[in-house]
Amino acid sequence: MLLTPLHVQGGRPLSGEITVQHSKNAALPIIVATLLSREKITLHGVPRLSDVDTILDLMHHLGTSHAWVGENTLELHTPEILNTDAPYALVSKMRASFIVLGAILARAGQATVSMPGGCAWGPRPVDQHVKALRALGAEVVEDGGNFDARRTGSLNGTFVFELLTVGGTHNAILAAVLGDGVVTLENASIDTDVVDLIEFLNSVGADIQGAGTNTIVIRGVPALRGGAYTVIPDRIEAGTFMMLAAATRSRITLNNVRPDHLRAVTAKLQEMGVDILESGSSILVDATRGELKPVNVTTQSYPGFPTDVQPQMSALLATVPGTSVVQDPVYPDRLTHVAELHRMGANITVSGYTQVIQGSRLHAAPVKAADLRAGAALFIAGLTCEGETVIDGVQYLNRGYEKLTERLRGLGADARQTELAMAMDD
Ligand code: EPU
Repeated sequence: MLLTPLHVQGGRPLSGEITVQHSKNAALPIIVATLLSREKITLHGVPRLSDVDTILDLMHHLGTSHAWVGENTLELHTPEILNTDAPYALVSKMRASFIVLGAILARAGQATVSMPGGCAWGPRPVDQHVKALRALGAEVVEDGGNFDARRTGSLNGTFVFELLTVGGTHNAILAAVLGDGVVTLENASIDTDVVDLIEFLNSVGADIQGAGTNTIVIRGVPALRGGAYTVIPDRIEAGTFMMLAAATRSRITLNNVRPDHLRAVTAKLQEMGVDILESGSSILVDATRGELKPVNVTTQSYPGFPTDVQPQMSALLATVPGTSVVQDPVYPDRLTHVAELHRMGANITVSGYTQVIQGSRLHAAPVKAADLRAGAALFIAGLTCEGETVIDGVQYLNRGYEKLTERLRGLGADARQTELAMAMDD
């Protein structure tokens, strides 16, 4: 299916309230984790995204039946694993699907999962996923573009991650939940998505301690129950809307947020002169009072400034007079937004993973998104300038933001997107 470009007419402040979706990056591993139970599981707060459809296609191949029983409520049921392979055609659509390796291995004793490869903004290695499974007793061999994993008994032992990896931590946890072993993961990710996965698993009978710390201990259990769980709010979507509010010099209230998940983003905006008022599960972002100041930003693993908000922050800083420096050592090649922002008049010089940004007024231009967060950055940039910005590659937005255009119209944005399509890359 082809998607017509997104047409954005910007140059005026937005206002009002917007409800943040529940987290894409928490929902995907929790959906995969339902593979570990024979019972029916109901998940609330699952965003309707093409990435969710992609993982559901893969789960269907593995033996899961699913039904949407509410707008964002999904029932999943995997009484038996019917296939233990995750073929290239499915894994290459979305690299996050690589974590089925741990889940299939746990449930079925063996798994064959295609190597995920790189993506539009550079390599996405999985060496830590594989090293963890091997260290815990699984046999993992690379064969013809696949990883073939087997275990004879329960996973057991300790693995120290060489770096903080969200997906690697997910994979190792999923592999260790069932059985009678005890697995300790050190230097594990403390990301909110890891915490949410653990809380879901414990809610259906897993025994995992240490969520939110760098040491996670998983004691194997014979089986998981059925149950119901609500996914956390999406801190990356919230961060995107916070950048949007600041870039358009608007006053916007975000509902369904966890302010404690957004500390690094909030602190940076406050440093720029944006007023932020937290109230329960809402955040008011007010960028209407005075000039914004340039800042320096470096991405880090959670709780640092998220790489998934870096392109959007770069778009914002491209509109703020003065010199800002943005560095993304987490994903050094995540720079596909830069050439497109140049087309809109942005003054950004790149050296390695460092962007030096001289802020100025942007102008409308035809541009093309090459990935999800770059698409969000271009949408933000388009909303800052007068005239019509036409954004191609908008199918990427549908991977991560539910009904984005429609919801932003609720804030007064003039944006039109007519048809839906699936993107084939991260
Ligand atoms: N890394 C390795 N080896 C590994 C795994 C990771 O070197 O085996 C490196 C990566 O190259 C990167 C760093 O470790 O430099 C962190 O990668 P991580 O494994 O944490 O990333 P991920 O789990 O593959 C998730 C999100 C990404 C997000 C990153 C970082 C999902 C589905 N994806 O990816 O989200 O950028 O964490 O926070 O949860 C997005 O939503 O736009 C997106 C790409």
